[in-house]
Amino acid sequence: MRVVKTIDEVRKQVKEWRAQGLTVGLVPTMGYLHEGHASLIDASHRDNDRTVVSDFVNPMQFGPTEDLESYPRDIERDAALVEAHGGDIIFNPEPSEMYHEGFSSFVDMNVLTQELCGLSRPVHFRGVCTVVSKLFNIVQPDRAYFGKKDAQQLAVIKHMVDDLNMDIQIIGCPIVREKDGLAKSSRNTYLSPDERKAALVLSQAIFMGMDMVRKGETNVSAITDAMKQHISAEPLAKIDYVKIVDLATMQQITDIDRPALCAIAVYIGKTRLIDNFFTEDV
Ligand code: PAF
Repeated sequence: MRVVKTIDEVRKQVKEWRAQGLTVGLVPTMGYLHEGHASLIDASHRDNDRTVVSDFVNPMQFGPTEDLESYPRDIERDAALVEAHGGDIIFNPEPSEMYHEGFSSFVDMNVLTQELCGLSRPVHFRGVCTVVSKLFNIVQPDRAYFGKKDAQQLAVIKHMVDDLNMDIQIIGCPIVREKDGLAKSSRNTYLSPDERKAALVLSQAIFMGMDMVRKGETNVSAITDAMKQHISAEPLAKIDYVKIVDLATMQQITDIDRPALCAIAVYIGKTRLIDNFFTEDV
């Protein structure tokens, strides 16, 4: 397992693998890896001969008041995890390697991005689409792996790959949770012990919503109101959104009469956490 800092080195390595007829999987990450990332690396290792894990805190997907500077970073810890899960390369470029001076080409999308996180974080998906396109161009993988925790991101990437005729299979992997239910996230490290306890309202609300759907409730307000009520009872929690949207369009619906996504974003103190369920999975 090697940590590689430059685009040229990644390209050279992937070319060698290709010459040997090997398949390549890519796991794009922003580092500070946890078991959720490990499950993506495991999936790539299972499906492909070689796995590249990108480890890059992408400045372009952070808004001016967001946590770019404080986002946790620890490449040595990440390298150990990637090695343990069968990854072959970590691509860990400096921002200047990814965005040279005068960089001015972007990938953007005007569908799927107007709701949920796209509404709260206006520059986010342009940054995600741009960096993921660049990573796809650099690595040219057969398959790329994304967590379903970022369900809107997964939908956006699939749409981008389809729109731009990228010959890459996009694979979504299930949410990995702590034992008590909290969805794994690099941002969980920001939480104080009291906030960590308070953060359980997210998964509790998700399980409550899933239960209602399982029992046959289709009225969106009935489900989201119950979830909001539960979250609002926690003094450290502030709701950004609790919504149910059409999975195909990411537009809000009033009744669950088609495959839908229930997604939530909640501030616990200053930390913004997300969680979700797909109605088809309950
Ligand atoms: O999901 C993430 O960690 C990031 O949005 C991604 C896909 C690595 C792009 O920076």
